[in-house]
Amino acid sequence: QPAQSEIAALIARHLTREGPMLPILHALREAYGQIPGAAPALIAEALNLSRAEVHGVISFYHDFARAPQGRHLLQICRAEACQAMGAAEMAERLLTALGLDWHGTTPDGALTVAPVYCLGLCACGPAALYDGAPLARLNAARLAQLAGEARA
Ligand code: FES
Repeated sequence: QPAQSEIAALIARHLTREGPMLPILHALREAYGQIPGAAPALIAEALNLSRAEVHGVISFYHDFARAPQGRHLLQICRAEACQAMGAAEMAERLLTALGLDWHGTTPDGALTVAPVYCLGLCACGPAALYDGAPLARLNAARLAQLAGEARA
């Protein structure tokens, strides 16, 4: 992982641009091949945004700018209320079963698994989007079933 000061300097170079967020994300990816873990907090501070807003743009950016993308997209909520309902463990099990990291796509090109940050379904979490359709009260078994359907 790159040093925070290095990331902060890279962010600072783009601050005078209009709509600096995407150029910053592009630059980070070019420099490090990914968005470093320390970056969202630094971007939030530099642009005076909440971390949730920055995460939102980053997941948008990943979903649309990152290739390859599977035929189906499962976006699992990683925000607080869903985490409290066991979303992290559930997601971890799925990713492990599929042999993927976040934003990864199964080798058959069927399914991409990505994080999202709060879908407004907090009262009935864990929540996710499957090809844009909201899913509530998820559990590991339901996710495994979905993944199976996606790859059928
Ligand atoms: Fe997951 Fe709000 S925290 S939908």
